[in-house]
Amino acid sequence: MWWKHTVIYQVYPRSFQDSNADGIGDLEGIRQRLPYLKDLGVGTLWLSPFYKSPMKDFGYDVADYCDVDPVFGTLEDFDRLLKEAHGLGLRVLIDLVPNHTSDQHPWFLESRTSRDNPKRNWYIWKDPGPEGGPPNNWQSFFGGPAWTLDQRTGQYYLHLFLPEQPDLNWQNPEVREAIHEAMRFWLRRGVDGFRVDVLWLLAKDPLFRDEPGNPEWRPGHPDRLRHQHLFTEDQPETYAYVREMRQVLDEFSEPGQERVMVGEIYLPLHRLVRYYRAGCHLPFNFSLITEGLPDWRPENIARIVEAYESLLTPWDWPNWVLGNHDQPRLASRLGEAQARVAAMLLFTLRGTPTWYYGDELALPNGEIPPDRIQDPAALRQKDRTPAGYHSLGRDPERTPMPWDASPYAGFSTVEPWLPLNPDWPVRNVAVQERDPQSILQLVKRLIALRQEPGLLLGPYRTYRARGGIYAYLRGEGFLVALNFTDRERALELPQKGRVVLSTHLDREEAVGETLRLRPDEGVVVRLS
Ligand code: NOJ
Ligand code: CA
Repeated sequence: MWWKHTVIYQVYPRSFQDSNADGIGDLEGIRQRLPYLKDLGVGTLWLSPFYKSPMKDFGYDVADYCDVDPVFGTLEDFDRLLKEAHGLGLRVLIDLVPNHTSDQHPWFLESRTSRDNPKRNWYIWKDPGPEGGPPNNWQSFFGGPAWTLDQRTGQYYLHLFLPEQPDLNWQNPEVREAIHEAMRFWLRRGVDGFRVDVLWLLAKDPLFRDEPGNPEWRPGHPDRLRHQHLFTEDQPETYAYVREMRQVLDEFSEPGQERVMVGEIYLPLHRLVRYYRAGCHLPFNFSLITEGLPDWRPENIARIVEAYESLLTPWDWPNWVLGNHDQPRLASRLGEAQARVAAMLLFTLRGTPTWYYGDELALPNGEIPPDRIQDPAALRQKDRTPAGYHSLGRDPERTPMPWDASPYAGFSTVEPWLPLNPDWPVRNVAVQERDPQSILQLVKRLIALRQEPGLLLGPYRTYRARGGIYAYLRGEGFLVALNFTDRERALELPQKGRVVLSTHLDREEAVGETLRLRPDEGVVVRLS
């Protein structure tokens, strides 16, 4: 059950390390940085897509599921990376993007040639609606209708994302088998599993009904939010598709060497947990991102943790996430002082944590000048949001990893594809390696401390969630106390103990009945 005891670290390959001076990160660059990841203490890497792709959505538009894009390297580079990672005891998950392909994928190129092409039914084609427009009112996540007319054959195809990302028809068993074969291709190469892109969107309403309006939508909000997604999300057929994928993983699993599925699923908790029943090992629990960070108060966080814990059966293993390549940076949402508190929370809750590259430096959102915007989500909807580009764009959380003070922060030897954060000369790995109180050191200490059986396995129990303090017990042995305020606070402990770690990294000491917390301080107490 290695996946229950690991820490997952997400690498966005374009932005981790460039090895060939083109300003874009690549697989060989990641390989060179494996010692850093090993030293950080994480156990598992999740690599965002590096497949052959026209890069309209930076790799989430796949043109070949079984090859590496030249920008990232070659299959041999991947094999070398995997072998070396395994040699260091690191597991590797890759991103599987089964909901859609690139419009340049040979399957789609064939599918669009004629209405009776054998691959026609691999995608979702429909006649125009009664007024000659799109077949129904479904909206794309990236703005505008989710349907594009193909002039030549006079039908519309569905794309929940870009027009260059046509949705596969998961109702078609041939499609499912083709994706399973792609999974086997990588499983045979030795990957430890997949992070599955938009798992909750795979199935669509078989009747293609219009979605009802969302009363909360206002002009300026993203188009996708115009409707309530009764017919494009979390459809009942999805669970069978998940079960089948799980079977493919199980073909390659052995005791202690499970191949695992981490699912990208943005759903309320009571619906999220159904994906455990379908066989997904770790359905991503985004509740801290969606509900916790926007309302960062002890009462709210305790409510989220308790709600989630209460929905899990003894067979479901929890997981927690604070950031990814689609979300604003943690440090920009909370500030560095509370980002440290959030890190302590993430690594001491029960369940597998997923960490986003650069958050260990408290990397803030990047500043992207308008002429350097890359993200299609920003470019397509810029005129539709009052706040302009930045409210929808994901470039700010995808800026290059700053490694040291050499030109281009050691990321590259040329100008990177996205600008470095302006503070890179002082906020980088080398600086924080030298600083005994940096957030990087804190993250290392937290990951190491997590190996304690009490923190790894002990049950969770809320101890206090008010007055600016959130404190909880993990098993019999540990109490975690987090000060969400910038004022001093005191907490009566259930028994004496010892502070074994502070977010300030400056004390390890015995404590009596009263624990004093400094502003923005979190501590782990080993109870005696
Ligand atoms: C979710 C991914 O995380 C996001 O980056 C991507 O744009 C969409 N899925 C489409 O694949
Ligand atoms: Ca490169």
